[in-house]
Amino acid sequence: MHKILLLPGDGIGPEIVAEARKVLDVLRADFGFDAELEEAPVGGAGYDAAGSPLPEETLALARAADSLLLGAVGGPQYESLPREKRPERGLLGLRSALDLFANLRPAILYPQLAEASTLRSDVVSGLDIMIVRELTGGIYFGQPRGIRERDDGQREGFNTLVYSESEVERIARVAFDAAMKRDKRLCSVDKANVLEVSELWREVLESVAPDYPEVALSHMYVDNAAMQLVREPKQFDVMVTGNLFGDILSDAAAMLTGSIGMLPSASLNRDGYGMYEPIHGSAPDIAGQGMANPLATILSVAMMLRHSLDRADLADRIEAAVGGVLDQGLRTPDIWTEGTVEVGTVAMGDAVVESLRAASN
Ligand code: IPM
Ligand code: MG
Repeated sequence: MHKILLLPGDGIGPEIVAEARKVLDVLRADFGFDAELEEAPVGGAGYDAAGSPLPEETLALARAADSLLLGAVGGPQYESLPREKRPERGLLGLRSALDLFANLRPAILYPQLAEASTLRSDVVSGLDIMIVRELTGGIYFGQPRGIRERDDGQREGFNTLVYSESEVERIARVAFDAAMKRDKRLCSVDKANVLEVSELWREVLESVAPDYPEVALSHMYVDNAAMQLVREPKQFDVMVTGNLFGDILSDAAAMLTGSIGMLPSASLNRDGYGMYEPIHGSAPDIAGQGMANPLATILSVAMMLRHSLDRADLADRIEAAVGGVLDQGLRTPDIWTEGTVEVGTVAMGDAVVESLRAASN
């Protein structure tokens, strides 16, 4: 029996997690998938319910669960709260408390969506990149940090970019392992021409490389990597990078695929326990309108089945069902192009459920 904790969060989070729940319900009803679902508030919803973006009870449920499915956090109504009460703190708190250091962010272009990308379809067709982002270290968590007053009376803000050898080594191994399952090419992204942290990062990557003699390791400065991602993205197989660079590059990579609304992600600890979430945010501008794309969240369920619950068979079925609804021409507004059929969040979820059910008979 798998215990899955749903964390809908804010904005479009509840709408898209509701669709993912329908998919999980079909797996339970028609595919003999034994799971128990619970739900808890996080982010702004946590603040509203319990005065904290990561309520104690939510964290306790997360620790007791086998996997987490998160919608998204954040919204304009929370932006004036003190930093430690802001929704993002709930997400960062979960990552940190559960030691979810390995963030896998695949950027795959569905052939049906080649026209939805803002890049020429010959540049992106067949795109299949895996970004491995370090998620619990670097400048996001480094100490000291803060805003302080200087002797001259001016305030200054400061953060610390720090990585230990062991932090780099463990994310490097995740990335090499990922490369071994793919095309065996790993590009490590850093800023070694300027930063000491990156100098050490490179050294550690090189020191791990002999354990993976089949993987071709290369290094690229982050500014060049950003450029190469939009110039010739298919040159990449697996990319590994630190927390901040990974945040930025994964949004850019996502957009190559037509819509950030299509991409799932996994955040794993060393035992394969993980939190799964769409890589897009809470999109407050379209929240409550029934037009959010639930596919990234549904595909996050597939990633969960594959990476944490040892049910790659069911993951394949979900991915096939998503491919099926795209084949039918169904599109939420973010991926709509001429000649396709625009549908809303619920209709898209229903179509995936339908396609899954059809496959079970
Ligand atoms: C992400 C998001 C988060 C991050 C925010 C919401 C804190 O942008 O998951 O990429 O910066 O990591
Ligand atoms: Mg981000």
